[in-house]
Amino acid sequence: MTKPQPLVSGNWKMNGLEDSLKEIKALCKALKKADPKPDCDVMICPPTTILSEAVKKAGKKSCDVAIGAQNCHDQISGAYTGDISAEMLAEAGATALILGHSERRDKEAYAESDAAVRAKAEAAWRAGMMAIICVGETEAERRGGETLDVVGGQVRGSLPEGATAANTVIAYEPVWAIGSGLTPTVDDVAEVHALVRNLLNELMGEEGAGVRILYGGSVKPVNAKELMSVANVDGALVGGASLKAEDFLGIIAAYA
Ligand code: PGA
Repeated sequence: MTKPQPLVSGNWKMNGLEDSLKEIKALCKALKKADPKPDCDVMICPPTTILSEAVKKAGKKSCDVAIGAQNCHDQISGAYTGDISAEMLAEAGATALILGHSERRDKEAYAESDAAVRAKAEAAWRAGMMAIICVGETEAERRGGETLDVVGGQVRGSLPEGATAANTVIAYEPVWAIGSGLTPTVDDVAEVHALVRNLLNELMGEEGAGVRILYGGSVKPVNAKELMSVANVDGALVGGASLKAEDFLGIIAAYA
């Protein structure tokens, strides 16, 4: 299994009205003109309301930006007021789904369990989408020396059987690094990514080497190159700095 093609994905969270589509347009334009072309896949996961418009924008003139979605219900359809199924998101044109983000796992928010995340990953596959499964420790867990146990447990618990390099991406996002401007040291990133890689090899055999393991949490143009050059880091999941095309391009440039 060869080294995976890196992926830089933007997670817009609950940010972005119709006006934000111009950022996707700008991204497409800049990538088209880029010389050299960045050696990575690029994706934006906007809020659901502008998903189909984003797909239309990105689908134009061979733009190299894939469009993903955020979260879903694990059932195909039914009496789940306010929810949305993976099939619906796929129909709108999304090709990937961010699942198990710490903002969803948060006990004081949606308290999603590993089992819930696993069921959603299966739903993403059922709908033909790639599952981006997020894992990461809280600040207290890191201070308590539990990082590897927590992250290892989340990977084991959230990854369904049947995972392949094509249908699954893991995103390691330390909870304390998200939106805080703080990042782990490169040694800490390397340690967790090595743990995830070993676990994927154990659970998936040879296929595990091809699964992309993204780093996420305060990735910015200034630190992207350093973080992306760490062993077993196969790209980034980017929140705040993905909202403006210019910042996001600065991160993608780590692969130019
Ligand atoms: P951030 O968010 O880049 O704003 O820290 C990352 C994420 O939550 O995916």
